[in-house]
Amino acid sequence: MKVLFIGGTGNISTSVSKLCIERGIDLYLLNRGKSGVKIARARTITGDIQQPKELAGTLGKHQWDVVVNWIAFTSNDIERDIGLFFGKTRQYIFISSASAYQKPPSHPIITESTPLKNPFWEYSRNKIACEEKLNQAYRQKDFPMTIVRPSLTYDTVIPVAISGWKEYTIVDRLKKGKKIIVHGDGTSLWTITHAKDFARGFVGLLDHQQAIGQAFHITSDEVLTWNQIYQAVAEAAGVEAKMVHIASDFICQVEPSFTGTLLGDKSYSAIFDNSKIKKFVPDFVATIPFKTGIKQTLGWFETDASRMTINQVTNRMMNRIIKIYETSN
Ligand SMILES: NC(=O)c1ccc[n+]([C@@H]2O[C@H](COP(=O)([O-])OP(=O)(O)OC[C@H]3O[C@@H](n4cnc5c(N)ncnc54)[C@H](OP(=O)(O)O)[C@@H]3O)[C@@H](O)[C@H]2O)c1
Repeated sequence: MKVLFIGGTGNISTSVSKLCIERGIDLYLLNRGKSGVKIARARTITGDIQQPKELAGTLGKHQWDVVVNWIAFTSNDIERDIGLFFGKTRQYIFISSASAYQKPPSHPIITESTPLKNPFWEYSRNKIACEEKLNQAYRQKDFPMTIVRPSLTYDTVIPVAISGWKEYTIVDRLKKGKKIIVHGDGTSLWTITHAKDFARGFVGLLDHQQAIGQAFHITSDEVLTWNQIYQAVAEAAGVEAKMVHIASDFICQVEPSFTGTLLGDKSYSAIFDNSKIKKFVPDFVATIPFKTGIKQTLGWFETDASRMTINQVTNRMMNRIIKIYETSN
């Protein structure tokens, strides 16, 4: 199987790239070579997907079984990709987002038939527009698309609702006994998926003839409360968490930049029904509990001091929200 990943060395896609190589797939990675991640035995095409004219010559020489774009965010990106890959691939996979599912949800169990609608988050609306463009191309000219919607998926990021993902700030706060913010009363339900688990479901969709025209989410079946999620992060750091519970509405009033990620996503309970991916990829099962995976992630941060960045902007923002909340009570 000859596969092209646009991206392929990111937080989710690195695990998928490694599993492809393990399974003998002839994998090409198109990226700028900036991430520093090397995937042994993958072939590299160095380039910027935002400069398609420069890539057209190189890409034009190839015929693919599958093309996956890990970094398409707008319908213009999809239009560009249809131009580049129409007639050149047997399958094109778009990485959408489970945040595209209806917010607020009318039912906490999410299936692939849950409507797509998110008035709170532009990122999600743009992903919906990408999906619409692809559905149109599939219906009108048989563009062989498949849509995959990850929900919160981690490996080399610390996947909490309030703090930066690519930084060590939340762990530093926990270790120093500083307060951390948990939205709501911490009892809403959420699912966090390790990229290695996601990879097992995802690779099963590659060149899967029945997956054309279909959409899937791929998540763990482990459902946790946000209190349990932050407790697991604190336990991995070897400390107890000092949580301050603050209503999502209040957080967003003080810091409107959280509106998308909270009111457009993580403030509601969401339980993913993974029956569809399990029907299409029968050997898919997520096996990494968050408690285990987050220890590995913290270990990854701590093996290289340059990854343990403490962002004072994040710190000041958290201190400010806590202070305004505590003085208002
Ligand atoms: N993580 C989650 O919880 C979550 C949830 C829902 C949806 N998603 C979706 O998952 C996708 C992200 O996947 P990921 O985590 O594997 O990616 P990522 O961590 O964002 O990594 C980006 C990858 O793309 C490459 N890249 C960036 N800009 C490029 C450019 N202009 N041209 C060519 N290559 C470029 C990077 O390599 P270089 O820097 O070397 O070029 C790297 O390989 C996104 O579409 C996101 O919306 C993620």
